[in-house]
Amino acid sequence: MVSAPRCRPGARGLLALLMLLLPLPLAGARSSCGAPPTLSFAELLDEFKTWTYFPSESTVSYNCHPGYQKVYKAQSTLLCKRQLVWSEPEEFCRRKSCGHPGDLANGKIHITDLLFGSNITFSCDKGFRLVGHDTSQCVIDGTRVTWNHKLPFCEAGCQKPEVQTGSMVNALDEKMWYHVNETLPFKCSPGYQFSSHSQLPATDRCSITCLADGNWTALPVCKKQSTSDVCEMASVKEVNECGVSLERLRTQLEVQKLYLEIKKLELELKSQ
Ligand SMILES: *[C@@H]1O[C@H](CO)[C@@H](O)[C@H](O)[C@H]1NC(C)=O
Ligand SMILES: *[C@@H]1O[C@H](CO)[C@@H](O)[C@H](O)[C@H]1NC(C)=O
Ligand SMILES: *[C@@H]1O[C@H](CO)[C@@H](O)[C@H](O)[C@H]1NC(C)=O
Repeated sequence: MVSAPRCRPGARGLLALLMLLLPLPLAGARSSCGAPPTLSFAELLDEFKTWTYFPSESTVSYNCHPGYQKVYKAQSTLLCKRQLVWSEPEEFCRRKSCGHPGDLANGKIHITDLLFGSNITFSCDKGFRLVGHDTSQCVIDGTRVTWNHKLPFCEAGCQKPEVQTGSMVNALDEKMWYHVNETLPFKCSPGYQFSSHSQLPATDRCSITCLADGNWTALPVCKKQSTSDVCEMASVKEVNECGVSLERLRTQLEVQKLYLEIKKLELELKSQ
């Protein structure tokens, strides 16, 4: 008996039937989370960098960039959820703090913040000079953060004094800053002298001394030389105003005495 052959379903039809019966994922739908999200100031651990397939329930971990630290209690891993989306990232990394650098005696520290990358600046009170760097930056040192310059210090001293009088010249004017107890010599301009007593040879030079409060001792006063006061006696007070110590004055007087004795001797020799 011959029966008419039944039309067999074509290969194409079979495939279509199969696809209808199979569950969705195997039927060509996504089965992996996408690339893990980029987190601020963090990067994926090396082992995950080469991965391309992130199945449901898989996790990836991050590390903070140098200078940053994990926010307390923040998750350092993200999960590829069953819906094939990554778990929501929270704030993960924050800048580390270098901490307060300490106090600057006789000066001020100007701070906006103490975090990695920030600068702090230093200044000294009047009468003090900054020795060291006036700025410090919070930088990375290995795995830690630290200030890149140690604290400067404020040194007591005097600024170059302003001398207005034309009758006096600063004999040593290349410096802008003087230490406490340092002296600065002055000379009177030609035709002027510190003391009005021309018989004291060394009094056309005077010095001022830098005091610990940043002030100088009183500036010497130059007076116009006049022949009328040649015979005036030296007053100790006036010489002191000029900054000449009694010790030095005594030496000067002895030198002067010696000089006069030599002159006298010379005259005696001539007259012989
Ligand atoms: C800090 O100072 C350095 C140089 O001293 C500069 O390059 C940098 O930009 C400064 N940073 C900030 C945040 O001002
Ligand atoms: C300056 O001199 C005074 C007195 O001689 C002394 O007591 C003081 O310690 C000196 N100061 C400095 C900074 O050298
Ligand atoms: C130092 O000089 C300033 C003015 O230039 C003055 O106000 C201050 O009182 C002086 N200090 C002392 C201790 O004399």
